[in-house]
Amino acid sequence: MNAKKLAAEKAVSFLENGMTVGLGTGSTAYWAIEKIGEKVNKDKWKIRAIATSLRSEEQARSLGIPILSFAEIDVIDVTIDGADEVDGQLHLIKGGGGALLREKIVATNSRQMIVVADESKKVKTLGKFPLPVEVVIFGWERTFEKLKKLGCNPGRRMNQAEPYLTDNGNYIVDCAFGEINDPAGLHEQINAITGVVDNGLFIHIASKLVLGFENGNTQVISG
Ligand code: A5P
Repeated sequence: MNAKKLAAEKAVSFLENGMTVGLGTGSTAYWAIEKIGEKVNKDKWKIRAIATSLRSEEQARSLGIPILSFAEIDVIDVTIDGADEVDGQLHLIKGGGGALLREKIVATNSRQMIVVADESKKVKTLGKFPLPVEVVIFGWERTFEKLKKLGCNPGRRMNQAEPYLTDNGNYIVDCAFGEINDPAGLHEQINAITGVVDNGLFIHIASKLVLGFENGNTQVISG
């Protein structure tokens, strides 16, 4: 069974006709966008969407899902997005796909964020997955050193021979901290560094987690 697809489709069952929806990024959010496309095309749902990345926007447009800008909407009803790790309090690490900034802007402007993931993403303590941090290019070398001083092993993300660039034209530094025992504190420390745009810790943002299992089951956990 495709656990990611199962979780994503279950999450779409929480949406309603007429909603404004935030579209996540990644291989799990992909399935949610496909299902929303089906609702729009087969069930003639009137959905308005805002995307967290250029690639999700492209996928949505190809399915005929109307994409709006923030200037055209007041509030997003529900955002469905994936995660690289999720703990028992629904704190997340995101940004494995490089879209953390737009993802956080969309999620924090939503009434509800539903996280969709396969069972492998659920962890006791965040931090096995290196924390993605979006940094501006100007002075990035100094920002990198300051991140290192927080106790991580940082690596600038690459796209083959070139530095990886986000949709916002910034770099990503992947910071291997190991176990993160105080995610809220670390979030504040990282974002206090000038040159950091934002980091992939999502604290008290997600309100529901839909997990998909290889055996075909899904589990919904509300925060
Ligand atoms: C994109 O930047 C990420 O936050 C993704 O949501 C996250 O990496 C999960 O991706 P998958 O669903 O592909 O595992």
